[in-house]
Amino acid sequence: MISRLVVLISGNGSNLQAILDACKSGELDAIVVCVISNKADAYGLVRAKNAGIDAIHFAKLENESRQEYDSRLATYASACSPDYIILAGWMRILTSTFLNHFPNRVINIHPALPNTFPGTHAIERAYESYQRGEITQTGVMIHLVPDEGVDDGPLLAKQEINFIQNESLGDFESRVHQIEHQVLVNTLKDLLTK
Ligand code: GRF
Repeated sequence: MISRLVVLISGNGSNLQAILDACKSGELDAIVVCVISNKADAYGLVRAKNAGIDAIHFAKLENESRQEYDSRLATYASACSPDYIILAGWMRILTSTFLNHFPNRVINIHPALPNTFPGTHAIERAYESYQRGEITQTGVMIHLVPDEGVDDGPLLAKQEINFIQNESLGDFESRVHQIEHQVLVNTLKDLLTK
């Protein structure tokens, strides 16, 4: 049966694009039913519209608490009847007000290995750590989001990435993104065929 995916984004949406491409090619037996961004100018909204997918800027209302926002967001996402909700660069912590609606069905991508570099700029921070001689590899991980822990939760997949001597930060970032797109699609494929 075709799985229904809701994808939450905040920015460029390259991971969203990887999902859209895999759905289109048939690699994933899934459809993206809705794309939701908390940022009005997220390029991922353009990618979604180009693919003919419903896409919305889900703005925070004035004086709205985090719980109120998450409750509205849960209602909106539920109306799409998702099998899974993918946080593809969603840069806002979700509270249990949202997460409790979708137990074991919210999936996050983090461009670092488990328990390393949680939060923003993980790729850059790993690169700097390598430059200081502290680490020799980093990676990407896909995990379930059970609670408000940042970039933490039951692991679905991880992939180690070795640093290459004299590689620029820009080249390294592109390499990490390419790898995370593949790992994300492969992980979803495994999950959806179970
Ligand atoms: C990715 O590196 C993802 O792992 C992280 O945020 C970034 C989003 O990139 N959570 P994009 O918007 O998918 O291009």
